Amino acid sequence: MIKIAPSILSADFAAMGEAVERLEKNGADYIHCDVMDGMFVPNITFGPAMIAAVRKHTKLPLDVHLMIHQPERYIDLFADAGADIITFHAEACTHIHRTLNAIRQRGIKAGLVFNPATPVDCLKYLMDSVDMVLLMSVNPGFGGQKFIPAVLDKVALVSGMIKESGYAIELEIDGGINLDNIDTVLAAGANVIVAGNTVFSASDPAAMIIRLRG
Ligand code: DX5
Ligand code: ZN
Repeated sequence: MIKIAPSILSADFAAMGEAVERLEKNGADYIHCDVMDGMFVPNITFGPAMIAAVRKHTKLPLDVHLMIHQPERYIDLFADAGADIITFHAEACTHIHRTLNAIRQRGIKAGLVFNPATPVDCLKYLMDSVDMVLLMSVNPGFGGQKFIPAVLDKVALVSGMIKESGYAIELEIDGGINLDNIDTVLAAGANVIVAGNTVFSASDPAAMIIRLRG
């Protein structure tokens, strides 16, 4: 089943509560929360306090995408804040297996993220430890960037690995998704679609969520 995960990076930060309530009413499946530290990526967004604030406005799963160095340092803080899924970057973490387990030990879903140019070979040793794989289709740091088509091959590759493993692992794609390319990423095997700019710049975000779902 396709899931749409609007990214609140493109929302009005001064009216976040209402934005999240509207997304829930408009049929979003997850709320995608982009945490950036100004080190792993050249931008700074928000931390656990925003997740806790958003938590009070929705029952939807909070899909927390950590774009931070050494994410293991912050698992407990984000779990305490109310994250339902925590994903972190393979490039930012030395002990991936340990960190995935630490997330699961908090009773929430654990996901691993790969930048567009990062190979996914390590996944074959981790299929029993991940609940989600997130493939970046832009270089992380900013909303509203252009989709990188070379990532499609990786989506198909990971989709095949997931099927072969037999585990119920979600395959999420993030960056530059719009009405022109969503069919291609779905055909390649992605099932969770992050959309920031496409949803928030639409004159009717509710209608856009429905159109993206197809
Ligand atoms: C990029 C973020 C994405 C991004 C998605 O660093 O991880 O979630 O904001 O936004 P759009 O859909 O605008 O590319
Ligand atoms: Zn993201």
